[in-house]
Amino acid sequence: MHGGRGEGLRADPGTLRPVPRFYITTPIYYVNDAPHVGTAYSTVNADAIARWHRLCGDEVFFLTGTDEHGAKMAEAAAEHDMTPQGWADTVVQRFQDAWRALDIANDDFIRTTEPRHHATVQAFLQRIYDNGYIRLDTYRGLYCISCEDYYTSDQLVDGKCPVHGRPLVEMDEENYFFELSRFEDRLLEWYEAQPEAVRPATKRNEALSFIRGGLRDISITRTSLRWGVQVPWDPDHVFYVWYDALINYLTAIGYGRDEERFAAWWPAVHHLIGKEIIRFHCVWWPAMCMAAGVDPPANVFVHGWLLMGGQKLSKSLLRTESGEAAARLTDIAPQALVADFGVDATRYHLLRDVPLGADGDFSYDGIVSRYNADLANNLGNLLARVATVVGSKCSGAGPRPDPHSELGQLAAAVVEEARAAWERMAPHEALEATWHLIGRANAALEAAEPWKADPGPAVDAVLGDALEALRIVSLLVSPAMPSTASEIWRRIGLKGDPADCRVPDDAAWGGYPGGVTVEKGAPLFPRRQAGG
Ligand code: MSP
Repeated sequence: MHGGRGEGLRADPGTLRPVPRFYITTPIYYVNDAPHVGTAYSTVNADAIARWHRLCGDEVFFLTGTDEHGAKMAEAAAEHDMTPQGWADTVVQRFQDAWRALDIANDDFIRTTEPRHHATVQAFLQRIYDNGYIRLDTYRGLYCISCEDYYTSDQLVDGKCPVHGRPLVEMDEENYFFELSRFEDRLLEWYEAQPEAVRPATKRNEALSFIRGGLRDISITRTSLRWGVQVPWDPDHVFYVWYDALINYLTAIGYGRDEERFAAWWPAVHHLIGKEIIRFHCVWWPAMCMAAGVDPPANVFVHGWLLMGGQKLSKSLLRTESGEAAARLTDIAPQALVADFGVDATRYHLLRDVPLGADGDFSYDGIVSRYNADLANNLGNLLARVATVVGSKCSGAGPRPDPHSELGQLAAAVVEEARAAWERMAPHEALEATWHLIGRANAALEAAEPWKADPGPAVDAVLGDALEALRIVSLLVSPAMPSTASEIWRRIGLKGDPADCRVPDDAAWGGYPGGVTVEKGAPLFPRRQAGG
């Protein structure tokens, strides 16, 4: 159990049991270009984790959105002959469409151009200013527009941005600076006191070594750009995009507008972020909170990158140097995957293939082989077999499970493993555990061969167990594959929806009622050919 759970409890009026609150966020995505499979990775993982917590009965708030200010956005809008707002309005639609296609159930969608966000940024930063942590100075430095970040010359690779490989722009302006250097000790103390705040440990160490290396004050406003949130005490300046973006996490829960709501959700947040934005979330952000007199975020979980041919799939790399679209990468827009594999198989792959926290290869053949092995051969096959044999040996009525079967003991252990894995932000392990149960249910069928046996109690017992395993599997996969879970639930004759159940109580062995109609239906996951 990590920092977020257990805080800000309210009682469930039915049971009087405390209901934990669970607040989870994705980074807000730049709208300089369309969503892609890398941004889908963050979003699908956050969505599945949020769905798991809902399944456990937690009160969940899942936030995602778009980061719409800054030089990169203004540049993209100009390239398309549009105003920044017009461009943001167009691209935000693509994000919302992509998330709809991926069955993302966010509770709020924040756009940094919204008035509620401008007001929050101004209130929050005014507090930091009033607290004496912001000063005026002149900035000279090399800026990467794709990163929206400065680099020193020793950080460059071949004189270019180490992340994007693009040339840097010389900046020389009068800026307001946030005195980050004054927070070195407080940040180190915070890391010491909150050993779980940044996970995994490798990423925590990365943030710590950055702090120990010495912190410099950061430039947080621009005069060369109008596209941003106006600085309340000096209207010639707008806030630097990163400095406004981080505050989105507070805007959505009512900072400065609804103190009760804000106190209910903060600081027990879970920020899910990619590894390239550690410094912003694990150094700047806690320091900004401290400077404003707000508790730092309780949990930051850092995930790795999906790589293709060794390169991160970022929007800036979707174009080749000559400006042409790189066909291979544009082929893997989230909707292209959904059209090809279906929404649940796409979600499953993004959750199962690469452990959250590590980097991993993303390839078309990789999806096909995992799809065939896990979804077609294992899960799909289990349902198809059980439904067929229930049809031929039990007249289509699913029998009850054996309350004392070995599979039942395994199922209880799997439910517990899955719960622990979701709690520690390890969806791939939760799914791996679930597939262990699917594998054992298939193996039990193969050993008993009910299709060869005469109808009777022995056949009923093995089929009842398999149906009960499928019921529990539906519950456990519902955060990852909501439609598949509902469909299995329906086909094995159950009413309602797995997402309306409560885990662990409803996942206890023995819940399958028996005597209900089992429907075979078309294969859930028809097998795919590799390479196409
Ligand atoms: N706007 C900032 C975040 C501000 S948060 C206050 C930003 N946006 S982004 O559009 O570039 O999205 C970055 C996020 O997308 C990463 O942190 C990561 O979560 C996700 N990913 C982008 N490319 C990715 C991969 N190739 N692999 C995995 N995740 C990737 O940074």
